[in-house]
Amino acid sequence: MHNDPFVIAIDGPAASGKSTVGRLVAEKLGFLLFDTGALYRAVTLAALRRGVPIEDEARITDLARTIHIELIPATVADGRSYTVLVDGEDVTWAIRSEDVDAHVSAVSAYPGVREALKHQQRRIARQGNVVMAGRDIGTVVFPEAPLKVYLDASPEVRAQRRCEELRARGEEADFDEILAAVRRRDAIDSTRETAPLRVAEDAVVIHTDHMNIDQVVDAIVKLARERLEDPA
Ligand code: DC
Repeated sequence: MHNDPFVIAIDGPAASGKSTVGRLVAEKLGFLLFDTGALYRAVTLAALRRGVPIEDEARITDLARTIHIELIPATVADGRSYTVLVDGEDVTWAIRSEDVDAHVSAVSAYPGVREALKHQQRRIARQGNVVMAGRDIGTVVFPEAPLKVYLDASPEVRAQRRCEELRARGEEADFDEILAAVRRRDAIDSTRETAPLRVAEDAVVIHTDHMNIDQVVDAIVKLARERLEDPA
């Protein structure tokens, strides 16, 4: 068996199911889930609340270096998988707002923001076996991760799933608007200069258009068990 913390990297585009799948994989294996998008969202929320213009790269970078972000086990039973604290305040739902959705890709394209959050991610992940969901975990943050998965799905399927998720929370959802937003984020996330979204050479690509969640989770758990038993 492995002695070092075992990192399962799950990368992929917006709304490809990384957090949902990651949570279930983590539960089955007894790992922690670390949804790294929450860090970029927390910086974006802090900027919006403090009135820092999203185009002000220097001030946004400074925010990423100075705000204190913590991901801890869920503190409220309201459907959340974990609690996000920024300087002690619970922002778990606030970081999922449309306003944050609309600006987070721009914030996450700043190299200084990525550098600051990369260190936080490595620090947090050293706490134990972990499933890390993000965009660049297998390529930049943990290139040595023993299991890398790239979850993909068509923009239409991802938009549909996002609509269903919002409606299940009692929020309104317009398919065309959500599809346009998914495409916009894909374009920014995959063309930015620093750590763009791409498939790591040694990643297992799982295309989920015609799979349900259980099938995806089972496939990843099986791969993880194989690699935990035989790390080589
Ligand atoms: O996974 P998510 O939708 O919560 O991510 C929000 C944004 O954060 C996404 O548009 C790109 C960015 N992100 C990133 O650049 N690198 C990561 N490891 C995770 C998220």
